[in-house]
Amino acid sequence: MRKGILLAGGNNSRLYPSTRAVAKSLFPIYDKPLLYYSLAALMFAGNRDILIITTPQGQAAHQSLLGNGERFGIHLSYLIQEKPRGIADAFLIGRDFIAGAPCQLMLCDNIFYGKPFARLLQDAAAIESGAVVFAKQVHDPQRFGIVEFDSNGKALSLEEKPQQPKSSYAVTGCYFYDEHVCDYAATLTPSARGELEITDINRMYLENNALNVQQMGDDIHWFDTGNPDSMLAASNAIYNTQQQEGILIACLEEIAWQQGWISDNELKQQATELAKTPYGEYLLWLTK
Ligand code: G1P
Repeated sequence: MRKGILLAGGNNSRLYPSTRAVAKSLFPIYDKPLLYYSLAALMFAGNRDILIITTPQGQAAHQSLLGNGERFGIHLSYLIQEKPRGIADAFLIGRDFIAGAPCQLMLCDNIFYGKPFARLLQDAAAIESGAVVFAKQVHDPQRFGIVEFDSNGKALSLEEKPQQPKSSYAVTGCYFYDEHVCDYAATLTPSARGELEITDINRMYLENNALNVQQMGDDIHWFDTGNPDSMLAASNAIYNTQQQEGILIACLEEIAWQQGWISDNELKQQATELAKTPYGEYLLWLTK
């Protein structure tokens, strides 16, 4: 069975002073903690066994927010990233958890929404070998892992935060890998910035002709909330969309209920506990 990993490590120094005492994954993006959005992406893809990797200081707060996951019909376990050694470190930390299964990795600061998103994830999860990543056009490619395509849309090269980007397509923080990923991670050496780079893993899949890079269209929205401006922009966008459409984005109880992982009664109980909030009112409305 596929495993899910949510990476909420790193030192988040780009958000100091706000992140000196609290991990950014716990910050609200409008009406819910930032990591709800990446957890939603893991749940949409069907993952029920999920590892949350935090900093040593962050673990207790994440556990008190999410517990063992029962509320959302999933099983959560927790491990610590001692030092901000990079995204690919998740596969060294999570090796025993993954135990040779395929897996999906989500970065806790990535937010996706849009009607086709759940379907896109389910299709990616159904691919059995190789890796699947998603590319989205950005206007500041120096900030991201960048993928270059040939005229047929086939990926040609990958570079992490290039000074002279070969394209404006960023690789987003949602990755699907087959059972080889931990072995690939074990061969990595730190980059110039001292991190084990996820782009180096993706490049190994590319070199083996096993990297499927899917371009995300305009009907899927993506935020990498790496700085205060993008956090505010994401909050505003979530607020506007929820107001306009009368829905909640990344409502974990709703996703669990739709997946059949919690019953009508369990949903009602969660709704009652949160009843004094618009989030709880929405859950109550779902149960009617
Ligand atoms: C990381 C990855 C980068 C990717 C980005 C997506 O960047 O290294 O390849 O494009 O996430 O959010 P970082 O968060 O380390 O700046």
